[in-house]
Amino acid sequence: MQSKRNLLVTSALPYANGDIHIGHLVEYIQTDIWVRFQRLRGHKVTYVCGDDAHGTPVMLRARQEKLAPEQFIARMNDAHRADFALFDIGFSHYYTTHSPENQELCGDIFTRLQSGGHIATRDVEQYFDPVEGIFLPDRFIRGTCPNCKSPDQYGDSCEVCGKHYSPTELLDPRSAVSGSKPERRNSRHFFLKLNNFRDRLLELLKSGFVDEAIANKLREWFSDDLKDWDISRDAPFFGFEIPGHKDKYFYNWLDAPVGYLAALANFSKLSPAAVQDLWQDSDLEIYHFIGKDIVYFHALFWPAMLLGTGLRTPSRLCVHGHLTVNGEKMSKSRGTFISARHFAQYLDAQHLRYYFATRLTPGAADMDLNFEDFTARVNSELVGKLANLISRCAPMLIRLLDGHTGMPVVDALPMLADIRQAQEKIAAHYESRDYAAATRHICQLADRANKFVEDQAPWTLVKSDAEAARGVLTAALDAGRMLTVYLKPILPQFAQQVEKCLNLPPQKWESVEESMESHKINPFEHLTQRVDEKRILTMIEENKNQQPTAPAPAPSAVSAPAPAPVGEPLAPTCTIEQFAAIDLRVARVISAVDVVGTDKMLQLELDAGPLGKRTVFAGIKKAVKPESLPGRLVIFCANLAPRKMKFGTSEGMVLAAGPGGSDIFLLGVDAAASPGQRVH
Ligand code: 2FM
Ligand code: ZN
Repeated sequence: MQSKRNLLVTSALPYANGDIHIGHLVEYIQTDIWVRFQRLRGHKVTYVCGDDAHGTPVMLRARQEKLAPEQFIARMNDAHRADFALFDIGFSHYYTTHSPENQELCGDIFTRLQSGGHIATRDVEQYFDPVEGIFLPDRFIRGTCPNCKSPDQYGDSCEVCGKHYSPTELLDPRSAVSGSKPERRNSRHFFLKLNNFRDRLLELLKSGFVDEAIANKLREWFSDDLKDWDISRDAPFFGFEIPGHKDKYFYNWLDAPVGYLAALANFSKLSPAAVQDLWQDSDLEIYHFIGKDIVYFHALFWPAMLLGTGLRTPSRLCVHGHLTVNGEKMSKSRGTFISARHFAQYLDAQHLRYYFATRLTPGAADMDLNFEDFTARVNSELVGKLANLISRCAPMLIRLLDGHTGMPVVDALPMLADIRQAQEKIAAHYESRDYAAATRHICQLADRANKFVEDQAPWTLVKSDAEAARGVLTAALDAGRMLTVYLKPILPQFAQQVEKCLNLPPQKWESVEESMESHKINPFEHLTQRVDEKRILTMIEENKNQQPTAPAPAPSAVSAPAPAPVGEPLAPTCTIEQFAAIDLRVARVISAVDVVGTDKMLQLELDAGPLGKRTVFAGIKKAVKPESLPGRLVIFCANLAPRKMKFGTSEGMVLAAGPGGSDIFLLGVDAAASPGQRVH
């Protein structure tokens, strides 16, 4: 076993202007698997992330929602946390760039860069939207391409001919925000003199900081002098004002990576000054997981900022490619732009973790989520091979042999030894982020274990030699246990279920070396279900009806990421007849109690007047104190088919509004209404 490592791991901070979608999840799942693997091996891992809360798109979204930006980002932060929780992303801490720690750190870094002679100032001519009263980021300007004359192109590049240009070259420019004709205005900006760091950045690229293929691509930037990087924006802007410079703000791409440090400071309860010492710790390995579209920020701008401040550069960038769905870019009209929440509503989040793992390799190649392949792999590998071993053998041991394991049969020993010996190879696959190779290897071992069970036929053997059958099942379950340890970074919930079923303490990586001899297992509870293709089709169909949304900004002077989705997805349209079929009634809450074992459910007893009493389970625990509910009038759907839930049958649905979590508002009526009364 290696000595204990001290790791700081980050995933890119998602913009606070849109929901988390399955494209984002590639990165969070990739990082989370790596983090869980390192933790399972006993290393210390601090995994921080948070919302990238500043910038013009966030400011405009908040305006659109008629909220102060602070309120808007607080809601997004809750929504993002909830979405990540659905997919078991185990951050040590999820924070935001809009924090006092980040403000102080950015101010400090800027001052140090300035005193080191790394900041230049000069005037810049930019487009200004006279209706909105804002300077327009390039992505918020549309016009005709100066090269191929295609209409309706972005301010920085043409999607038709691929030409990059400056917004002032665009023909017939229009503001994408207000549609008005933008004006050219001059304004003073601050720049980071990247070229001051040229040699040290080139050195960094030689040092294994990024994969060689990416380093080579980055070296193209060094064929000329590195251009100064504009790090300021004009008011009105949602961000941090530059200390001593009224109405000048830090560009959000300056404060975003500093947000990693700020999240660490908030997590470790260290002052912004002290966290810089922690960052400098020579034992600390720092890994940034990012998408290939933001490599420039992390391999050039961020290291330059750190070097200019006198701080060390991170250990390594782990760069992944983008997600396509069914071979194409995620698309709203094809219904493949799927939010994390929506996916988890229809399908098992663990299945996405498994599928992504089977597709993830160390490089930055794009990966495809092909739903046919997803169904086939989950059903044949996860359900048919991995879960099968335990879901077949555990109930058999209970049914035929009192649930007691014994000693593995001699014939099983080579198979068990091979599974045990695979430990370091599989660890190496995880370490290098080759999860595709890890899952392939695990599946091969599962094939072998399943074949062993098939060959030994313990269900027949038990009739002639019960102890031999026990030995076969013991070996099979032990194989299943070890394979579950190998899968644990990918499938934490599945592993927990197996641990419960096999009556084991939480398994660590080295638990593989133990065995399951002479042990009583627990009653079997099912582990996972096959993917139902119909649910995929429904999810995609529903998604097609989403509204088109506003674009996200592109980072300046680098590649443009795909526009982030903005806004709550619209449910599919319903006809007036369907709407009229919903019977909404007033009810008075008689009692409200916590449903133990859930973090969001309350059990409500409703008095619906002539309709009688109803029990309804409502996911509002985070937003409402149960003791505040008795006596309150609410609106509920009275003709919803009763729904069997884990904790009882729900006989209706209480109406509420809000983004979720602690922001749910029950819809009620005034005290003059009476229970049972219809709501129009
Ligand atoms: O590209 C993005 O989604 C950015 N919000 C990532 C920021 S990562 C870091 F620098 F904070
Ligand atoms: Zn063009």
